[in-house]
Amino acid sequence: MKTILILNGPNLNLLGKRQPHIYGHETLEDVERLCAAACDEGFEVRLEQSNHEGRIIDWIHEARETTCGIVINPGAFTHTSVAIMDALNTYEPPVIEVHISQVHKREAFRHHSYVSLRADGVIAGFGLDGYAAGVRRICRLASA
Ligand code: DQA
Repeated sequence: MKTILILNGPNLNLLGKRQPHIYGHETLEDVERLCAAACDEGFEVRLEQSNHEGRIIDWIHEARETTCGIVINPGAFTHTSVAIMDALNTYEPPVIEVHISQVHKREAFRHHSYVSLRADGVIAGFGLDGYAAGVRRICRLASA
C-alpha cells in the first residue's frame, strides 16, 4: 500500500465551524472521507492537522521515508513559513498545495505563498474538492 499524507495547518481543526461563509460547513472528517474515496487501488491516505509549525515540519520529515506524496493545506503558514517550505524541499515525491478558498480573491497578504515555491501543483477555491483533486494527481504521478 502506498500512503498519501494529507497535511493541514492552523485553525483547520475548526473546519465546519470556522467562518463557514468562507470555508463551508464540512469538517476535516469529511476531508478524510473524500480523500480516501479519491484514492486509486493500492493507495491509502493519512490525515494530520496541527496548529504548531514544528509539528507540521516533523510530519514532513517522517513522510520522506513512508509516503508517496503530500497534499498540504498549510493554512496561514502558507503566507509566512520559510521553514515549512524548507522542509518540503527535503521531500522528493510530489507535493500538491490546496486552499479551500480562492486566496487570490482575498486580502493581498494571502496572494503570496512560500509553499508554492516548492509545490508541484496548486489548487485554490475548489472547496474540499481541491483535496480530492490533489489525491488523484498524486496517484497519477506515483503510478507513472
Ligand atoms: C486557507 C487560506 C489561508 O489564507 C488561511 O489562512 C487558511 C485557510 C484555505 O484553505 O483557503 O487558514 O489555506
